[in-house]
Amino acid sequence: EEFHVVAKPGTSNVAYLSSLLQLHTDLPYYEYQPGATILHCIEQAKNRGGENLLTDVFYVAEKLRKENKELFHILSTVEVNWLDIGEEDGVQYHKICRSPMICLNSEGNVESVRHSIPQRDSHFTVDVKYVKPWYDALRTFIDLINEHAYKFKTQPGEMFAFDNTRLVHGRLGYEDTSDNRRFLVGFYLDWDEIYSKMRVLKEKGFQ
Ligand code: OGA
Ligand code: ZN
Repeated sequence: EEFHVVAKPGTSNVAYLSSLLQLHTDLPYYEYQPGATILHCIEQAKNRGGENLLTDVFYVAEKLRKENKELFHILSTVEVNWLDIGEEDGVQYHKICRSPMICLNSEGNVESVRHSIPQRDSHFTVDVKYVKPWYDALRTFIDLINEHAYKFKTQPGEMFAFDNTRLVHGRLGYEDTSDNRRFLVGFYLDWDEIYSKMRVLKEKGFQ
């Protein structure tokens, strides 16, 4: 299923405005979050703005773990609520998922990340002692992902793909006018399917 990223009047989704879209992962409110996001640029703002942003959170998480163990511990253990509530094409939805921002596997390695400010619930159902330290840790995390963001501007016909469980992405704001339009077509692929295809290609001799 495709989604169309274009400035839409009256939207409740920040992605469909023309303003700055802060760094985020897509659909953090799904237990089974999309593996890879693919964004195909059909039309790009000709004037300043509309640039893509991308940061490797695995890198940032390891930096945090090395430089501030306590912050890393908070972000990888305190569970937050991710949610999306609304209605689209006459269908109501109420999606919730509870997970820390940084998820570790049984060996303590970073397995996946979730981050999207507008899709995090304002209700924080944790012991009150964790609230201030968690927000302090979030501040540091946001500073770091912004500091390490790579900026580029895809051109019509170009497509970029990234691991949505590892990287955060965003875009700079632009002016949406009749001669300065921006239009991307996006879709998701699961890692199970990507790995499957890679194995098949490898068996056929592709490296
Ligand atoms: C999105 C998104 C990026 C862009 O729709 O989730 O991140 O460049 N869009 O508009
Ligand atoms: Zn996105």
